[in-house]
Amino acid sequence: MIIAIDGPAASGKGTLGKRLAHHYGYRHLDTGVIYRAVAKALLDAGADLTDEARAVAVAMELDPEKFGNPALKTQMVGEAASVVSAIPRVREALVNFQRQFAADPPGAVLDGRDIGTVICPNADVKIFVIADPKVRARRRTLEARARGEEADEALVLADILKRDERDQNRAIAPLKAAPDAYLLDNSHLDIEGGVRAAIDIVEAVRAGR
Ligand code: DC
Repeated sequence: MIIAIDGPAASGKGTLGKRLAHHYGYRHLDTGVIYRAVAKALLDAGADLTDEARAVAVAMELDPEKFGNPALKTQMVGEAASVVSAIPRVREALVNFQRQFAADPPGAVLDGRDIGTVICPNADVKIFVIADPKVRARRRTLEARARGEEADEALVLADILKRDERDQNRAIAPLKAAPDAYLLDNSHLDIEGGVRAAIDIVEAVRAGR
């Protein structure tokens, strides 16, 4: 069983992915951290984010053990990840890892931008999460402050809109709903409400409804 969750930055797909995986006893991969890890390695090395050869080399040597590093979660790394993720060869270098993760038993939940369209086009269930940009900005701002970072909500909103624009309009694997994805509008749901809605979708698909 593979559950694919896609959606824009700060839509809540990561939390939904984690909770769904827990509910079904599956493994969970937040694929954004992979692109964030590539971006952070380049930033740390003072390298140019558009240096294709270097970005590909970093992507091929990633250590999944480090995907839990909280330093990957910052706004700056997210923005840099959006830039490096538009490089086709970087994406290609990361496909096999993601597909292997998805295929291993007993089942997996992957969240990202292109899971239902490119990484796992045959996923059993595809959910596309959307949320009002203002609501996403609010959530991201509160999360950043909870981590002790300073965050200006207007700037966070501008960053989110810029990221949506880049992620949706890039030439390779742009953010978009697969034709067979179920839309989940997370704008006015709290975490429990979103989780319930996602489980309802999975159960409906499993029941063949
Ligand atoms: O979901 P996130 O904010 O952690 O993702 C950071 C960036 O990584 C996002 O702006 C675009 C890129 N990304 C991607 O291109 N494909 C994915 N499957 C996941 C993330």
